[in-house]
Amino acid sequence: MKILGIETSCDETAAAVVEDGTKILSSQIASQVEIHARYGGVVPEVASRQHLLSIIPVIEMAMAGVRWKELSGIAVTVGPGLAGSLLVGVNVAKAIALSRGLPLIGINHLEAHIYANWLGANGIDFPVVCLIVSGGHSDLVLMREHGDYAVLGRTRDDAAGEAFDKAARILGLGYPGGPAVERAAREGTASIPLPRAWLKGSDDFSFSGVKTALLRLVEAGKVSSVADAAASFQAAVVDVLVAKTAAAARGRRAKKVLLSGGVASNGSLREQMLKHSPLPVLVPPPVLCTDNAAMVAACGCYRLRAGRTSSLDLDVVPGLKLA
Ligand code: KG4
Ligand code: ZN
Repeated sequence: MKILGIETSCDETAAAVVEDGTKILSSQIASQVEIHARYGGVVPEVASRQHLLSIIPVIEMAMAGVRWKELSGIAVTVGPGLAGSLLVGVNVAKAIALSRGLPLIGINHLEAHIYANWLGANGIDFPVVCLIVSGGHSDLVLMREHGDYAVLGRTRDDAAGEAFDKAARILGLGYPGGPAVERAAREGTASIPLPRAWLKGSDDFSFSGVKTALLRLVEAGKVSSVADAAASFQAAVVDVLVAKTAAAARGRRAKKVLLSGGVASNGSLREQMLKHSPLPVLVPPPVLCTDNAAMVAACGCYRLRAGRTSSLDLDVVPGLKLA
């Protein structure tokens, strides 16, 4: 079963073809990161216009080695994300589904991030505990079956990726923030004490305190090494993500821990989770942690198998939640 996946929720225009929910036949990503870098963040109106320019060539490249009649369905991200950006992908997907007579499958972007773990995997036994850490979300989720989720915890303020982006701005490391903080951290040591919000008794997260603490130190002129500050900030965020995920997994009789989302491409998070998790950890290669369409197509395959398709009046849902 071959599915064409389309992803335009933020600043990557992506299309991919995935077979049987696990095998990537093609995966194309046109990143807008350099366009938005000059503004220090994603400008929604610029993003949607750029998606319009890129979407057809990106789909054509993804379909280069596949015949249209080999496809079983079109999967597209409907939310969460930027409304104008989502609209581009959803409308193109609808047009293709209508003209080719193919099933349309509207996909939750957060669910797609989880399904990045199925790409190249040899089947995954349920239940699993998933940590989704992206620019807009830090969610701990118990996945009991395909399509069956219970959200255990969420961030109460900043998402992990958002916190990395803000820390990068505070430290003058530029945009995109996560990779910049990680690069700087490699040259420093985590020697600056920063607070960790444990929120005992809850699976929720909070990252605004550590960000504000960093800001106060910088404002007071107490940061002499940007590298040490980056390393200390990264350690504070990673410590909390790892400890809380490990605790959630321990208490839920899960079979595995699954990482996903852009922040899961962080080397320190990957390393520390593998070291401290009480369960086997799955984490996609970095290029499948950040936004891509292969994860959307993989998710679409399991949805199509379950007979859960969408009608042609499918609309975007910018504030879509997981469960
Ligand atoms: O999943 P994603 O590509 O897009 C969203 O769905 O939000 O995640 C983007 C987020 C950004 O906040 C970015 O700074 C963060 O993931 N990120 C990282 C790293 N690479 C991307 N954070 C920490 N370390 C990284 N290496
Ligand atoms: Zn994402």
